[in-house]
Amino acid sequence: MRIAVTGGAGFIGSHTVVALANAGHHPIIIDDFRNSKPFIVGRLESLCKGKPSFHEADCNDRDKMAGIFEKEQPEGIIHFAAYKAVGESVREPLKYYRNNVGSLLNVLELQRQFGIPYFVFSSSCTVYGVPDELPVTETSPVKKAQSPYGFTKQVGEQILFDLQKAASESAKSVILRYFNPIGAHPSGLIGELPLGEPENLVPYITQTAAGIREQLTIFGKDYETPDGTAIRDYIHVMDLAEAHVRAIDWLAEKRSEAGTEVFNLGAGSGSSVKEVVETFEDVSGLKLNYRYGPRRPGDVPAIYANADKALKILGWAVQRKLSDALRDAWNWQQQLQKLPV
Ligand code: UFG
Repeated sequence: MRIAVTGGAGFIGSHTVVALANAGHHPIIIDDFRNSKPFIVGRLESLCKGKPSFHEADCNDRDKMAGIFEKEQPEGIIHFAAYKAVGESVREPLKYYRNNVGSLLNVLELQRQFGIPYFVFSSSCTVYGVPDELPVTETSPVKKAQSPYGFTKQVGEQILFDLQKAASESAKSVILRYFNPIGAHPSGLIGELPLGEPENLVPYITQTAAGIREQLTIFGKDYETPDGTAIRDYIHVMDLAEAHVRAIDWLAEKRSEAGTEVFNLGAGSGSSVKEVVETFEDVSGLKLNYRYGPRRPGDVPAIYANADKALKILGWAVQRKLSDALRDAWNWQQQLQKLPV
């Protein structure tokens, strides 16, 4: 199938492009490099079976997007393009609402205009807020959003549920709630490109190991967890990418059954910040310079997925371990230092 991938040069998008191409689909990358770099597209061409299409465009530019859809005639859309920094969204909420909600509306309207049957939406475990019970399942309650970023994901999901009610036969979509995506393609050719100082744990660790950051601060050591540091469900970005291929294939197989399905995408178990740091030290053979600091406002003490639904319906489960993801993230960081780009 011809699949439009908005944000296809971004972190999760680029790995999904590789997974789609290598599963026999034709990815149509749409990205304006606001959170990526043009060299990623060249790297994707070398990693993909067949040459993916590429268009430089802002998903908020409706006319330009219409021109791309007209030319490329996609049969499915995977919509990644969105801002994702929790802290920045608190400081600049309008930027998040305009971009994340505005681009989704454009893409959904174009989906209808061009009669594109399949749609996959990038959501986040952030919709669960502070969960009452662990692990969280897809039926766990959606809690009040902790940030404008989180609210844009809740709004996006609600828009898809409303569309399903309004016009079920033309509205088939999958909502994927990502837990904590980390790692990089094992080739070291693509990976995460944080803008400025990383907010997320793993890029902060690899940049500290590479000498770009002086020291990692572990936010909080007094959580009610076995070692006092916060627990998350880390998932290798290639596992996550492969889940998108399953989602698109499943939508195509279930063509007749309209609906909007939600899936948790996680490993189904949690790791503490301390465990992540120690595993990184093991795989890299380095001692990481870190200290403990206060809790980060807005952080939940622990969250991890029940991912049984993805296994049962999509036939998907993680294949890679935390240590694989950290090794690949470190490999990517080192390649990035070596190769002038
Ligand atoms: N952490 C540190 N030091 C750092 C960075 C992070 O100790 O320098 C800790 C955090 O406090 C947290 C854990 O590492 O306990 C993971 O933090 P990340 O920022 O990597 O990930 P989050 O779980 O905070 O955020 C992720 C996604 C968001 C999503 C959120 C939902 O990045 O997009 O999960 O909970 F909204």
